[in-house]
Amino acid sequence: MSDETNGKARKVLVVDDDEPFRTTLKDSLIPFGYEVLLAQSGEAAEEMLAKERVDAVVTDIRMADGNGLELVTQVRRKFPNMTVILMTGFAEVKGEEEAFNLGADGFLEKPFKAEALVELLKNSTSMDDLEVVDTKGFYPDSEGLDDDYAKLNIDDFDGDIKIKYDVYVRLSKEKYIKISHDGEDITTERLESYKKKGIAFLYLRKTDFKKYMGMNISMAPLVKTSKMIDKEKKISIFEHTAEVILADVYLHGVNPESFEHARTVVESMTELITDDSDTLNLLALLNGHTDFLYAHCLGVSIYAVMIAKAMHWFTPANIYKVSMGGLFHDVGKKDIPREVLAKPKVEYSPEELKMYENHPVRGVEILRQIPNIPNDILHIVGQHHENCLGQGFPVGLSKNRIHPMARLVSIANEFCNFAIKNPNSPGMNPTEAIKQMFLQNVDRFDPPFFMALMKLFKYDPPESFKKLVKPKG
Ligand SMILES: [Fe+2]
Repeated sequence: MSDETNGKARKVLVVDDDEPFRTTLKDSLIPFGYEVLLAQSGEAAEEMLAKERVDAVVTDIRMADGNGLELVTQVRRKFPNMTVILMTGFAEVKGEEEAFNLGADGFLEKPFKAEALVELLKNSTSMDDLEVVDTKGFYPDSEGLDDDYAKLNIDDFDGDIKIKYDVYVRLSKEKYIKISHDGEDITTERLESYKKKGIAFLYLRKTDFKKYMGMNISMAPLVKTSKMIDKEKKISIFEHTAEVILADVYLHGVNPESFEHARTVVESMTELITDDSDTLNLLALLNGHTDFLYAHCLGVSIYAVMIAKAMHWFTPANIYKVSMGGLFHDVGKKDIPREVLAKPKVEYSPEELKMYENHPVRGVEILRQIPNIPNDILHIVGQHHENCLGQGFPVGLSKNRIHPMARLVSIANEFCNFAIKNPNSPGMNPTEAIKQMFLQNVDRFDPPFFMALMKLFKYDPPESFKKLVKPKG
């Protein structure tokens, strides 16, 4: 039966302080052709690993002699190519992505069937064929490699745009593994196996990323006018390019070049989106994305433009300001750790809340670096969390002191918070999202802009609300 293992991990070390559990696991793995070693603690496992080569370590997270995560760290340091799978009896690790961030290749919640572990072992790339980029001694003063790499959504590697650069997987901020060389295609099968392991992003070196971004932008006019590409695909290409730009901005900050690129993409995209079906398709497209922050920013930009057009703001200068203000409204979140952004606000510590509520101010600071940036854009970014009740942040401005474009963008922002999926919400259809906005204190919103949003989705508001919008007399 050894061929069942299909050339992947054959010798497995199971680490668990529960004796009956580890022997049962051993007995159930043997029929699948695995050779199984057992250790009752992290320390015992480390001693064993010093003497014997294994292909995979399967370890409990919490054990009597300490934390299994320490073992993961040790294994990662000493045996970077070894497969590591974490087991837990409680919801300490919330998902595969988190397990992966901890340095593990997979995660199983107890109780599990032996088949589930076998599946993970089979899918785990043994990584023997991968080139490990170790920073030790290479960047002695470096905090890690994160500044040298830029991430792309894994789904983009299976799309229409082929990525002809070296591609990496991130193991930690100090370790990236090359999974494909310049010009190679990554097979769909391989992408699927990464996705199964919870990998949502692949990485390019920053220099390649810039070339890639430049290539996408230079393609923009061709894409926009091409009769060969259908509209849905065009929108999807621009959506991808916008995400690439946002990834760059959130990683490295805004510069005049990225700002100009963003303008090209957002203009192309808003020109393409013209009718009702586009409005809904766009939401589906944004909800299909794994990076909630970029999907949110792009959504806010596009829906803000749609609201502006519904308000008959047609001058290109105004549309430009609304779209760019929408795209960059949250750029001040750039320095807030992703783990914080992924938490519900009620769980924020006072320091985290302070940092969060400062993001509009930080955003203005960042964008001021763009020469000649219009003040209207800075007002949108700085005031997108102010509200008409004077209860917003960072200042608590009264309605009349909030820039009209900021009032408009704040509605697109609230709508996207409900409609586009994020770590705290699965996303919802436009009608539900608008209902949720009504359930909050609707007086926060400037009625004509909120009405314009409802018009986009053919939502009929209560009469009491209509009265707020209709001119008196
Ligand atoms: Fe915000």
